[in-house]
Amino acid sequence: MDFDGGIVTTKPLALVATFAALSIIYVVCKVIYNLYLHPLHHIPGPKLSAISRLPYVHSRLNFTTDKYVLKLHDKYGHVVRITPNEVSFTSGETAWPDIYGFRTGKLRGHQNMEKDKGWYAKPVNGYPSILAADDAAHSRGRRILSHAFSANALAEQEGLVQAYVDQLISGLKESITTESGAPQDMAKWYNWTTFDVIADLLFGEPFGSLQDKATHKHIDTQLRSLDAGHLFYIMTYWPWTKALGGLIIDQQAMKDRLEYFHWIKSQVEKRAARETQRPDFMTHILKHNETGKDKGMGLTDQELVTNAQLFITAGSETTATMLSGTMYMLCKTPSVLIKLQDEVRSAFLSYGEITLAGVSKLPYLFAVIEEGLRYFPPVPTGFERTVGKGGEVISGVFIPENTGVCVSQIAAYHSQENFINPLKFAPERWMGDEEYKDDKKNAYQPFSFGPRNCLGKNLAYAEMKLILAKMVWSFDFALDAKSDDWMDRCKVSTLWKKPELAVHLNEIMRD
Ligand code: HEM
Repeated sequence: MDFDGGIVTTKPLALVATFAALSIIYVVCKVIYNLYLHPLHHIPGPKLSAISRLPYVHSRLNFTTDKYVLKLHDKYGHVVRITPNEVSFTSGETAWPDIYGFRTGKLRGHQNMEKDKGWYAKPVNGYPSILAADDAAHSRGRRILSHAFSANALAEQEGLVQAYVDQLISGLKESITTESGAPQDMAKWYNWTTFDVIADLLFGEPFGSLQDKATHKHIDTQLRSLDAGHLFYIMTYWPWTKALGGLIIDQQAMKDRLEYFHWIKSQVEKRAARETQRPDFMTHILKHNETGKDKGMGLTDQELVTNAQLFITAGSETTATMLSGTMYMLCKTPSVLIKLQDEVRSAFLSYGEITLAGVSKLPYLFAVIEEGLRYFPPVPTGFERTVGKGGEVISGVFIPENTGVCVSQIAAYHSQENFINPLKFAPERWMGDEEYKDDKKNAYQPFSFGPRNCLGKNLAYAEMKLILAKMVWSFDFALDAKSDDWMDRCKVSTLWKKPELAVHLNEIMRD
């Protein structure tokens, strides 16, 4: 009995010991493989990152990936292995075309690199927007959607955009009067404006945030679901984490996401049912989709909904971030603000003269916008692609298949390899100033590059120019002390998480 009893107790122990020993052997082999035998072993980077994804995941959970990746590039150079199978580049001049560019010239015959699955959340209805679609669905969708962004369409949309910019300016004037000059949270005001513009262009009615001076509940949901981007990444690379379900996924956030999706669906259906020639996105999209459908090349109703959702996120938060970051840097760099004020205030005799055609003639305004996008890029970290079969040479370095690769924008734009005095906010670098002649301008692509670059770039420029010009024309502004370190406190999820940007505004009184 004793003997049997002994066997009974030692058997599971032996099993546990064997399992532990095998696990240790597996881990040791994996470590040796990742460090010395893995096809990426020649790429510089911390040893811990070559072995494990943990340091990178840690930075994502802390929303500090921007600072983490920047530090790695400072230490290891323009190409860094940030996880066992992901590589980040700052050598934008060559890495943008190699990763994201058209497959022409030396790349003729190469496959486009697919979007990395860990970076693009699955759509609620299973039909990806063009952002995450495969190449065939992407070109079918982009052909139809691009009509909404043509030069003619933009010219027709100016009145609608201007109406919201005017509402921003008059709302601010009202608030500083009723609140006795209290600082305004400009991060919120810019969000309200850009979300209202996009919603009106899409659905024919705004979120109503400017009118209510409050963030619409669906904007809030949208921003929170962006924060969950790291969870999609974690669950893609560590599928076992899905089993933790409720422990890592905020169930309320999932419910809100679903409710938001159904709200967008109902808005799209409502707008599609309305007979109107209003010059907004939907008029162009629906018209060209009919012709596309006739040729078997249209967007399905489901795809219309996911693309509407994409437009809201891609078209609002990004532009609002640029405006917040630029306003902060203007306040921090008075010499630049004064030059901009001189240009804007001398170009127009009255507020009513500030039109798209007018602001497009202002070179310093344009340079300020470029510098704002460089200094504080709205899409700060990598939007990854996966290297296809056979591997690719990126910036002169061979990268094997199935590696996640990207240009990390903030690291590339703050790198001395690319920009002279990169931490100086100097719009002059975009105006041919001799001091910055060695800047590598091609390393800078805030709207991405190649066939899947930003579709809304012209609309974004129109909004940024009109809003900045009208703000500078209408107000003097200065940071409140509590926002002195605002940019340092911004965090990165998929896009930026921006705290309050408290700015004192003084209305300029003219005769
Ligand atoms: C300063 C403002 C903006 C910046 C910096 C910006 C940046 C970008 C970037 C980097 C991408 C590529 C993302 C990826 O590949 O994962 C992108 C894609 C896109 N953006 Fe923008 N964007 C801005 C404003 C806008 C606006 C106003 C719209 C209007 C709706 C818009 C619509 C889109 C769309 C539809 C795509 C997907 C294009 C495709 O996959 O073919 N963006 N944007």
